[in-house]
Amino acid sequence: MLIVVENVLDAQEVRNFRERLNSARWIDGAPTAGTRSVAVKQNLQLDRNDADATELGNIILRKLGHHPLFISASLAEKIWPPVFNCYQNGGHYGTHSDAALMRLPEAGMTIRSDLSATLFLSEPDDYDGGELLVEEQFGAQAVKLAAGDMVLYPSSSLHQVAPVTRGQRICAITWMQSAVADTAARELLFDLDQSIQALTPQRPKDDPDINRLIHVYHNLLRRWAAP
Ligand code: NI
Repeated sequence: MLIVVENVLDAQEVRNFRERLNSARWIDGAPTAGTRSVAVKQNLQLDRNDADATELGNIILRKLGHHPLFISASLAEKIWPPVFNCYQNGGHYGTHSDAALMRLPEAGMTIRSDLSATLFLSEPDDYDGGELLVEEQFGAQAVKLAAGDMVLYPSSSLHQVAPVTRGQRICAITWMQSAVADTAARELLFDLDQSIQALTPQRPKDDPDINRLIHVYHNLLRRWAAP
C-alpha cells in the first residue's frame, strides 16, 4: 500500500527549502548506491554531512514527529536522516530495492528499512518525467505529488525514478524502522486506527464500542510490535 502524507511542509516552508537548496553544494549521487545499484543511478545529492542537509533534514524530522497521519501509518521507531536529491537532464534511478540494513557509524545507528519515503520539493508542473514507480502486487504505481507532500511505500518493493526530461525534480528521501516490521500487519493497524479516528467524533465520550476498538488496536499492536 502506498500512503500519501499531505502537507508535511506548507507552501512557505517549501519556498524556504528551495531557496536554501538552490545554493547548496550538490554532488554526484551514484557513489552512495550499492555496487549493483550504482549502474542505474544518475542524480545529484547533498553529502550527508553537509550543513544545509543536516539543518533541513532536522526540520523534516520535527514535522514528521508531529504529523498524526505519518505516525499512524509508519509507527516509526527510527528515522534515517533525510537525503536530498536532484534529478535533471535525463537523470533517473533504474529499478532497485533499498538496502535492508542501513548503518550510520558516526551516530552509532543501524536501522532495518521497513518503509521508504519520498518528500516532493518541486511542483509537478516544474518537470516532465520523474515519476516514482513502485511495483505493487497489482502492478506498478506512478507517484508524482505536490511540493510538500510525502509518499510512504514498503522498502521491500522494487521501485525506480523515471528519467526527468525537462526541469528539475528535487526531493528528500528517508527510511524508517517501524515498531511493526510486517507490512500487512502495519497496514491493518493503520486502517483500524483511521476508522477509530473517523468514528470517535461521531460518538459520545466513553462510547463502549469505540473503547473496545481502541482496546483491540492496542492489543494487536502489543502482539505485533517487535520485542
Ligand atoms: Ni530506492
